[in-house]
Amino acid sequence: MTYTSPSRLRVIALVMVGAIGMTACGSEDSTRSSGADPDFERGAAVYAESCASCHGGDLRGTDDGPSHLSVVYEPNHHSDDSFRNAIANGASQHHWGFGDMDPVDGLSSADVEAVIAFVRAEQERLGFDQ
Ligand code: HEC
Repeated sequence: MTYTSPSRLRVIALVMVGAIGMTACGSEDSTRSSGADPDFERGAAVYAESCASCHGGDLRGTDDGPSHLSVVYEPNHHSDDSFRNAIANGASQHHWGFGDMDPVDGLSSADVEAVIAFVRAEQERLGFDQ
């Protein structure tokens, strides 16, 4: 009688993940440029783990990928959607000679939003190169 089927558990888990994701998105606006923002911390961790190997721990690029402080990645040139798209689908080489960017697997949508917020905050803090 008290048995809960695995598929039902999965639905419950998905609903919980969705609720957490929505909470994270909802808090984004109110915490925008605050230094002690938990989203920023999370974004920094995601960036270090998933992006820094190519885009550089300081965002200034490596031999495998471009600097995110290039004006090419200003918000009005590469919108947040272009970040979502690059993470989900990768990006074919078109601006530089580093080759293609592969999709980055294993990130939740909250991770993706946090890493974009992190890059935007760092762009604002450090300024753009040229
Ligand atoms: C394996 C190397 C590699 C990793 C890891 C990587 N990138 Fe990239 N990324 C690239 C390269 C190379 C380009 C440049 C493609 C071009 O325009 O020539 C690029 C381009 C981009 C672009 C621009 C896409 C466009 O539409 O022009 C964004 C945004 C981006 N990366 C974000 C990220 C984020 C965020 C992460 C981590 C979640 C990440 N990248 C991880 C190699 C990487």
